[in-house]
Amino acid sequence: MLKAIVNADIKKGKINKNIYGHFSEHLGRCIYEGIWVGEDSEIPNIKGYRIDVLEALKKLKVPVLRWPGGCFADEYHWMDGIGPREKRPCMINTHWGGVVENNHFGTHEFMEFCEMIGAEPYISGNLGSGTVQEMQQWVEYITFDGKSPMADLRRANGREEPWKLKYFGIGNENWGCGGNMRAEYYADLYKRYATYVRNFGDNVIYKIACGPSAGDYTWTEVVMREAGHLLNGLSLHYYTLPTNSWTGSKGSATEFGEEEWFKTLKHTLVMEELVTKHSIIMDKYDPEKKIGLIVDEWGAWYDVEPGTNPGFLYQQNTLRDALIAGINLNIFNNHCDRVQMANIAQLVNVLQAVILTEGDKMLLTPTYHVFDMYKVHQDADLLSVEFENIYYTYGDEKIPQVSISSSQDKDGKIHISICNLNPSQSVDVDFEIRGTAVQKVKGQIVTDQEMNARNTFEDSNRIKVEVFNDAKIENNHAVCKIPSKSVVVLEIE
Ligand code: AHR
Repeated sequence: MLKAIVNADIKKGKINKNIYGHFSEHLGRCIYEGIWVGEDSEIPNIKGYRIDVLEALKKLKVPVLRWPGGCFADEYHWMDGIGPREKRPCMINTHWGGVVENNHFGTHEFMEFCEMIGAEPYISGNLGSGTVQEMQQWVEYITFDGKSPMADLRRANGREEPWKLKYFGIGNENWGCGGNMRAEYYADLYKRYATYVRNFGDNVIYKIACGPSAGDYTWTEVVMREAGHLLNGLSLHYYTLPTNSWTGSKGSATEFGEEEWFKTLKHTLVMEELVTKHSIIMDKYDPEKKIGLIVDEWGAWYDVEPGTNPGFLYQQNTLRDALIAGINLNIFNNHCDRVQMANIAQLVNVLQAVILTEGDKMLLTPTYHVFDMYKVHQDADLLSVEFENIYYTYGDEKIPQVSISSSQDKDGKIHISICNLNPSQSVDVDFEIRGTAVQKVKGQIVTDQEMNARNTFEDSNRIKVEVFNDAKIENNHAVCKIPSKSVVVLEIE
């Protein structure tokens, strides 16, 4: 029996709903086919956006969406993506498969899509190969209300009112695909570019600097030291690979046994260490925690599905991915004092997607269902949870078996999300609820008998959110049995 104390009277800060954010890049079939099919498509659409995907995303309450990259962002010239679609120039998407990008999905389409799904837009600007002027003009085009060359151009393209734009990234992975820069050089460039990212009227931009890759603590130190006074957020990118090696095979998304299950979850748990250590460095320069750690790329990265374009990063999604999602979201919730946003990579058809499409068919992945269950944490108050973990041992290695976070929403309901990482042993958990009287509990679960269970276009409903009945209230304790390899969310009143 694992005993945990949930302190309903010890609130540890607000869980920013943006932790439940997503990322959409011009990569493979994410934008084209996944979101945008064009008005003339036979796939049911509203103004070119596919309806099935729109509806699924609305249900998920996507709070924020990052676009247009990724590595694509530092090659993207936004003016190619405005004006009449048939006149927009084509470019080669050199980074992702060398395919022709026709720019039919540009600024207007992205901003409109965000409006339709109710998400805040988060735009990544081009620092790697774009000019300061180009970046300055993009923000002016989107947000300026008065008379100016860019605002007039926006009006000529059919949008009278400016949009609200809060989140703007100044470069992406500039230590790699965004220019292979040293941290010192990037910090100087950041300051120069950021100067011209203006606030027009009452539109205030939250500027996000390119942060480190995984455990590159020097990058965080240098950028915080040199430019910390001019930024609002610092990004962090960390992907979960079964092998933890970028060379050779990363491992299959679907064909794996317990060894790969264990290693993948072990590698995903590294996020806890990364968030903790980068936060310690940020604390040194920003003790009041005004600057957000923005984990704007995270998730599982496997070998592409056999027979698909290696540059398209199309992978399936199994129960293992549900665990990865649940564990990382618990980590971000528990660090909500510093983590102000996270964006899983990527929205549709790429990496750890919540949605996969094939022609006019669409399926929701196990990862989708975890985001769906966890949305109750959005903007809720994080509660203190104390417990001594038990371990899941495989061979001569062990990792914590249980991952937990808890919050209280504005109606007073307590939610506890629990992941059991062990693929073969359930765990009995006794949550003592302190600080408030509780009477009832209900729950939801994502699980299966098989570690690699997944939804396919032939059987799209195998993994779904199901009612979890194995919890009861006894003397202000919520007592439950969490099945092996499962993600559970309890609601307690
Ligand atoms: O998400 C895929 C790629 O991973 C992004 O384009 C890049 O930023 C990262 O390396």
